[in-house]
Amino acid sequence: MSKDREKQLAAEASLELVEDGMTLGLGTGSTAKFAILKLGEMVRKGLKVRAVPTSEWTHDLAQGQGIPLVDFSQVTRLDLTLDGADELDADLHLIKGGGGALFREKIVARASDRMVVFADAAKQVEHLGAFPLPVEVNPFGWQVAAEKIKALGATVKLREVNGNPFVSDNHGYILDCSFGVIKNPPALEDKISAITGVMETGLFIHICKMAYLGGKDGVVKLKPR
Ligand code: 5RP
Repeated sequence: MSKDREKQLAAEASLELVEDGMTLGLGTGSTAKFAILKLGEMVRKGLKVRAVPTSEWTHDLAQGQGIPLVDFSQVTRLDLTLDGADELDADLHLIKGGGGALFREKIVARASDRMVVFADAAKQVEHLGAFPLPVEVNPFGWQVAAEKIKALGATVKLREVNGNPFVSDNHGYILDCSFGVIKNPPALEDKISAITGVMETGLFIHICKMAYLGGKDGVVKLKPR
């Protein structure tokens, strides 16, 4: 089975959690796209929901699908956020931010009663860290934050597009930080978050309540161990 098919199966399966009247957070990325397309179909068949997008990309995709959108400034609590992930472990700690939307993804997830992720099976790992951890930093003085993250043991690379810094929807830069195996994700999250200039990290600790993983035998649901 192709990776795309695994993503599609997982993303579409997660929509079983969606109920009439819900306010949803909609994630960003190639797996989230499958969920948004399916949700669009469900809305066109009469499902009544409203959604907060976690990126401009998601906003445009969801709007094109006819999904009613609500500005985040109008919402302080969501029922359910559905999103992808770059890596997840058995505690359902996540690395996110491969698409650079980690700040909005995290603030929306944290405002939600429940955050659920979907992914292809290869994203499940014993230890987080093979995927470089995205950290969003303020452009002013980003080099200082980068040095402090290096001092925590990472190799740090400023994310670039066509030779220029990648700029997030949130007007931040992204540092892709390779720590190797992350033995204690909660402790690392605390250390990076304490650095002035860091706007948000791609570590999602105790935020995700369930994962749908698409693999060759279909979809498996995981809860934190
Ligand atoms: C974007 C994200 C994505 O959810 C993550 O990168 C997974 O993307 P994909 O579904 O394309 O593999 O965190 O910031």
